[in-house]
Amino acid sequence: MDAQKTLTELKKKIDPEIERYLNLVIRDTEKIDKNVADALRYVKKIILAGGKRARAVFMYYGYLAADGKDLEKIIKISISIEFIQIFLLIHDDIIDQDDKRHGITTIHKRYESLGRKFLKTRDPEHFGNSMAIIVGDMIGAFGNRVIYESDFRPELIVKALHKLQNIVSMTCVGEMEDVYIENKGRATEKEIMSMYENKTAKYTVEGPLHLGAILGGADNELLNTLSRYSIPVGIAFQIQDDILGIFGNEEKMGKSVGSDVRQGKQTILVTKAYEKASHDQKKILDSVLGKKDLTLKNFDNFKKVIVETGSLEYAKKLASKLIKQGKEALENGIKNQQFKPEAKDFLLGIADYIISRIV
Ligand code: IPE
Ligand code: IPE
Ligand code: MG
Ligand code: MG
Repeated sequence: MDAQKTLTELKKKIDPEIERYLNLVIRDTEKIDKNVADALRYVKKIILAGGKRARAVFMYYGYLAADGKDLEKIIKISISIEFIQIFLLIHDDIIDQDDKRHGITTIHKRYESLGRKFLKTRDPEHFGNSMAIIVGDMIGAFGNRVIYESDFRPELIVKALHKLQNIVSMTCVGEMEDVYIENKGRATEKEIMSMYENKTAKYTVEGPLHLGAILGGADNELLNTLSRYSIPVGIAFQIQDDILGIFGNEEKMGKSVGSDVRQGKQTILVTKAYEKASHDQKKILDSVLGKKDLTLKNFDNFKKVIVETGSLEYAKKLASKLIKQGKEALENGIKNQQFKPEAKDFLLGIADYIISRIV
């Protein structure tokens, strides 16, 4: 199965639901406060300007895996996890001091420049961050509301909402680990893997699959099988994100390449490079990582070290190994279970796509 094509096809069904929901909210908000409506219009623009909708699609296939039947209902509710995604990303972009998301100026940057141009704000940067925190919180609330307002049975809604709170709180654990080790300046491979699991694997793969499966009435055995697939696959997703953050194409991805380096992010690439670096290579890593006025030349030198220490190769191999592990866990787990072939095909296909993707 061509999983990338499936993503694209389902995105065409998911995006109109996102648009419809936000249009309703914007219409209602317009009556209360024009600035809030304007902020929501901007969020809508960012969401619809890009994004793979991988989480909504995982939710869809989790539902299918549990033999859920109402495909229209699961598409409608799947926008919940995409609202959670944008809420986390809006805050993440403040944390990572990033300027672009889906090729568009991030919320905090937008308000920073609005503050600078049109308001008398003394601290435009703080104003930008404040506005983005609030808008992010608001979208996060919509993520919960979508589930609450859905047509699923009340006991399933309660279970799904409970799951969603766990997803978000685990992601906060991972985001905090990320920020903490960035500021500590060095990390072990074990710390990096734990951070990847918490900040990405849970909310990107495991959580959405579980949400869908819970709504489809899954038992614990199925949820456990999905977890054993999700964690390695989700960690590989973040390894690929970190590779693309250094070697990717800015225009295609719609987010800044090199910003992890400027920010001094500890990734598997950085950890491994330090481990293997010569004295001179270490000096380059030390002088470039976290350099706020990073030049192209600095970045090129950094990339060279990542390649020449074998760190890039190591990260790619690790990601492939994790994908293989996830796929095997799925196949073993469903050997003696009823499992929708369509869901199995998608999960195997998307796992391969995750490490070959360029966006
Ligand atoms: C970005 O996720 C955040 C990470 C966990 C790496 P995606 O790469 O899935 O972002 P969108 O939703 O497609 O924009
Ligand atoms: C984001 O991780 C994970 C979240 C919890 C939002 P990153 O900071 O690595 O993702 P990008 O590269 O900004 O999309
Ligand atoms: Mg980020
Ligand atoms: Mg981050």
